[in-house]
Amino acid sequence: MKVIIAKNYAEMSKAAADIIRDLVNSKPNTVLGLATGSTPIGMYKQLIEYYREKSVDFSQVATFNLDEYLGLPGTHPQSYRYFMDNNFFNHINIKKHNTHVPSGIAQDIEAECLSYDKAIAEEGGIDLQVLGIGNNGHIGFNEPSDTLHVNTHVTRLKQDTIMANSRFFNSIEEVPTSAVTMGIGGIMKARQILLLASGPAKAEIISKLVNGKINTHIPASLIQVHPNVTVIIDEEAASLLLKKTNQIDCPLSWAE
Ligand code: F6R
Repeated sequence: MKVIIAKNYAEMSKAAADIIRDLVNSKPNTVLGLATGSTPIGMYKQLIEYYREKSVDFSQVATFNLDEYLGLPGTHPQSYRYFMDNNFFNHINIKKHNTHVPSGIAQDIEAECLSYDKAIAEEGGIDLQVLGIGNNGHIGFNEPSDTLHVNTHVTRLKQDTIMANSRFFNSIEEVPTSAVTMGIGGIMKARQILLLASGPAKAEIISKLVNGKINTHIPASLIQVHPNVTVIIDEEAASLLLKKTNQIDCPLSWAE
């Protein structure tokens, strides 16, 4: 696991966008796993800029998002489909039918979960999965728990997640209490993982993420066993890490 400390949010976003641009340039039909939330917005903006200056072409790229709120249609301004269209897909030359976000309104939600994992497999698997991290350590909506799910599934959101995400809604009562999310197995099957975090609120969870121990109550800690992980954080998110160098080799750096 490689940890890169960027000076600030803009540098974190650019470093992440550079990794994706280079990957897409080397493999035009890259399959990207994508995240929503505040953290990757700068990365999407930078990728849009790269597209506009013609240094990347998304025409053959396919994407699979991590999650969607249960009960929100893609037309709802707080749905993750709406977020992705507005913050990224509408501004690049990706083919809409190649962009996938789990449906939060499928009549048979269990079948939707199964077919989401099947679609990822049929596409050849995810080449690079982008992750944010919740203050409670969640990745996707895999919330802290004694047990974690392997596959895409429906999950209840923890109260701290509902509180954190209420900033996007008019009131906390409007925040959906359940979501469809890719499971830990789906995330770990990605050939490469890119986890981003910025700001002082993420410092504590980042120090727990890279400490060499795995704990299902910190779901993100599981990615320490993945053979190809890059964590890019800004200085504020890195403030509780012991070694303050630009690059930290973590306990499980065996795969690099
Ligand atoms: C979003 C997702 C979540 C977020 C996490 C951090 O698709 O899966 O795990 O990445 O909640 O959110 P922000 O970036 O808003 O702090």
